[in-house]
Amino acid sequence: VQAQTKITIENTEDAPVISKHIYGHFSEHLGRSIYDGLYVGEDSPIPNTDGVRNDLIKALKDLQIPNLRWPGGCFADTYHWRDGIGPQEDRPTIVNQWWGDVTEDNSFGTHNFLNLCEVLGAEPYLAGNVGSGTVQEFSNWIQYVNHDAGSPMAKLRKENGKEESWDVKFWGVGNEPWGCGGNMDAEFYADIYKQYATFLTSWDKDAKLYRIASGPSGDDYHWMEVLMKEIPPELMEGVALHSYSVIDWNDKGPASDFTEDHYFATMTEALKMEEYITKHSAIMDKYDPQKKVGLIVDEWGGWYDVEEGTNPGFLYQQNTVRDAMIAGATLNIFNNHSERVYMANLAQAVNVLQAVALTQGEQMILTPTYHVMKMYTVHHEAQLLPVNFESPDYTYNGKSLPAVSISASKKDGKVAISLVNIDSKKENEVELDLGELDVEGMTATILTSDKLQDHNTFENAEKITPEEFKDYKLRRGKLQVTIPPFSVIVLESE
Ligand code: AHR
Repeated sequence: VQAQTKITIENTEDAPVISKHIYGHFSEHLGRSIYDGLYVGEDSPIPNTDGVRNDLIKALKDLQIPNLRWPGGCFADTYHWRDGIGPQEDRPTIVNQWWGDVTEDNSFGTHNFLNLCEVLGAEPYLAGNVGSGTVQEFSNWIQYVNHDAGSPMAKLRKENGKEESWDVKFWGVGNEPWGCGGNMDAEFYADIYKQYATFLTSWDKDAKLYRIASGPSGDDYHWMEVLMKEIPPELMEGVALHSYSVIDWNDKGPASDFTEDHYFATMTEALKMEEYITKHSAIMDKYDPQKKVGLIVDEWGGWYDVEEGTNPGFLYQQNTVRDAMIAGATLNIFNNHSERVYMANLAQAVNVLQAVALTQGEQMILTPTYHVMKMYTVHHEAQLLPVNFESPDYTYNGKSLPAVSISASKKDGKVAISLVNIDSKKENEVELDLGELDVEGMTATILTSDKLQDHNTFENAEKITPEEFKDYKLRRGKLQVTIPPFSVIVLESE
């Protein structure tokens, strides 16, 4: 048992509100994310609403999914939205050049996606094509989905059966222009961005677009500096950041049959998010001290080798307790940086990378990551309670990482605290000084398992599910919790 770690929680009215959009998701035309994932088609024997699986709709609604990013990723810069509207028989097919060279028949298009978002109660976040598209094409897409009447694209939408506009607010201007989005350098993209942003009209006098520039990957601080310096604030509402927890792009290691070496290396990568956000925020602060531009971490999560026997271009991987550790710790980082982080999108929602749900025929399982996301819904739109503490170490092979992470918030008079202990062996005891928060009783939930490699399977879908947690004491404003190894705990005041 480690020595007790003391944690103080500040009850300050000045702290920011944790945007629910931090808990966003991402579904790309990649592998079995859309086709044979979310979308099985209206004629499928699998119960569906307009072709989208009902079990997934329910799971995502239970998650209170705040937003969904689509159609990519790399796919976005090859996607021509007009291919995916109108009668099915008239839609062209294309080859999905980034993801397995499979035929994309465009049967899931703009209407399917935006109607799905309405069913889910989620805000759509559309990524427009910059790499192989035009300013006109992008601008027309906005007109098609947002303009009520009186324009060529509004007319076309109505002809396609949708009278009312959808009013989409979040628009990504390309994706990863430093790589699959066009291999540009930062200066070139900044110019291209300004050109696009100038013509991205909302087509709705009451609505303002939230335009998101494609930002850096990981520690590319030069990219952030150039964007913040070159793009005037009136042209950009958000700037993206991508960061995956990947050990080595050439040898990512197995998703479930991993060693402690793999685990420690993955967590080392995951926890770098703290440094990336801190340093990118410092650059943003220089140009935008009032923090008007949001940091949008629109791709994050663990990335491993694909499961044996699956298409390498489909990025299908299992999801274990390790992924729950990534999710718990990363979401704590986002919450604690909510003065700058406005949105984030886990990559990806279904059957791809760190998914919250996996499907196989009629079956669907929810992953440990799903459960963490669900436990953390208490933080959506809650006011952050900043925490101060020094984490004990998780030491492995002479290296160490902070073992414990925490974030806390309050909403409607209730306090919520999420605690993560990533240590593979040691429990950690913490004492939280809840000060004047006036907490008298709490309920608690834990997500853990016997082994880090444990995961839910189609044969044993409930192996890892949240359980009631009792190993804590609350006395006179002091909360003592013993956090078992590799576990996520969420406590809520009654
Ligand atoms: O999420 C998978 C891919 O990762 C996305 O398409 C791309 O943006 C990133 O490199």
